[in-house]
Amino acid sequence: MKTEVINITTEYEKALTEAKKLINDGEVVAIPTETVYGLAANTFNEDAVKKIFMAKGRPSDNPLIVHIAKFEDLAPLVRGIPEKVKIMAEKFWPAPLTMIMKKSEKISNVVSGNLDTVAVRLPKSQFARDIIESCGVPLAAPSANLSGSPSPTNAKYVFDDMNGRIPLIIDGGSSEIGVESTVISFAEDPPRLLRPGGVTLEEMTELIGEIVVDDAVLNQLQEGAVAASPGMKYKHYAPTADITLIKSDFETFKNLCESEDNVTAFCFDGEENSLSCPCVTYGKENDGFSQSARLFDALRELDEMGAGKVYARCPDTKGMGMAVYNRLIRSAGFKIKII
Ligand code: TXA
Ligand code: MG
Repeated sequence: MKTEVINITTEYEKALTEAKKLINDGEVVAIPTETVYGLAANTFNEDAVKKIFMAKGRPSDNPLIVHIAKFEDLAPLVRGIPEKVKIMAEKFWPAPLTMIMKKSEKISNVVSGNLDTVAVRLPKSQFARDIIESCGVPLAAPSANLSGSPSPTNAKYVFDDMNGRIPLIIDGGSSEIGVESTVISFAEDPPRLLRPGGVTLEEMTELIGEIVVDDAVLNQLQEGAVAASPGMKYKHYAPTADITLIKSDFETFKNLCESEDNVTAFCFDGEENSLSCPCVTYGKENDGFSQSARLFDALRELDEMGAGKVYARCPDTKGMGMAVYNRLIRSAGFKIKII
C-alpha cells in the first residue's frame, strides 16, 4: 500500500476531504492532535477498527480511545454521564483529557478490548475536531506508533512506523503537548487516574476532590497483577538505549556521568554545557510542559546517535512532571538510582 502525506498548513481542505473519504470508506488515517498523532477510524465500523490493530501490531485486549467533536456526542456512547464527568468536561474539554465511563451498546468489544467501559476524549486540536465533525462519527484512535515504540509527535515519525501500512498521513507539524492525554476512569468513585498527561492531577483534584492515583502510574506493575488500564502492562516507550534515572542534584549527576566510560547524559536544557560526555537534552528543569514537548523526540535521538548506557536526570512528579516521569521511568525499565 502506498502511503500519501498531506500537509494541513498548505492544503487544509484537501487534507479534510481526502481523510474523510478514506475514513468513511472504512480505512485508517493518521491525524495530528495536540498530544501525539493518532491512527483514526470510524468507531462504529468494526472492520475499520480491526485495521487499526493490524497497522499497529496492537494486542486486541488493549482498548482504543474514542474521539468526539462536541460534548453532545458523548451521551450515545455511554451508560449515563456521571456528574463529575460533566463538571470535568465543562471545565477542561476540549483538552488532552480522556475520561472512562461504562459503555453503551454502540461501543463494540473490538473498540473496548472486551471491557464494559469506554475511553472518550474531546481533543483541542482544530484539525482533529474538524475531521471528526466532517466524518459525522466518533473516531477511534490510539497513538500512531507501532505497538511498543514511542508515540509519534510529528508526521515523519508516523511515516517511519506506518509507511506501507495505512493509505494517508495528515501532517499537522509538531504536537504541542508531546505526550499522550491524561486518562482518568469514572467507572468507579472516587475516580482513578490511569495515565498522567496534559491535564494535571492537581488541577483535577482542585475541581472534583479526591482522585485515586493508580499504582501503575509511578510504580512497576507487580507480576501477575491485573492492570486497571490494559496499556500499562505492555512494554512502552522503550528505546534501544539502556536508561537509568538518577535522582540526585546536578553535581552528583555530573560526577557519575564523568566517572564512567561511554555514558550518554539525558539532561535538562543548558546542562550539556557543563558535561564532558555526549548529551541529549529534554527540556527545562522544573518545567514539565517543556520536558513533555521534547521527551519522545529526545528518546528517539538517543537511538539515532547509537547511545548505549544512558544516565537521565530525574524529573519531579508534580504537575506536568508526573506525566514526564511516568513515561521516562518506563523507558528506563523502572531502573532508578537515588544518590
Ligand atoms: O493523547 C492520546 O490519548 C492519544 C491521541 C491520539 O488521542 N491516544 C492514545 O491512545 O494515546 P492509546 O491507545 O495509545 O492509549 C490509550 C490508553 C491505553 O493505555 C489503553 O489501555 C487505555 O488508554 N484505555 C483505553 N480504553 C480504556 C478503558 N476502557 N479502560 C482502561 N484503560 C483504557
Ligand atoms: Mg499508545
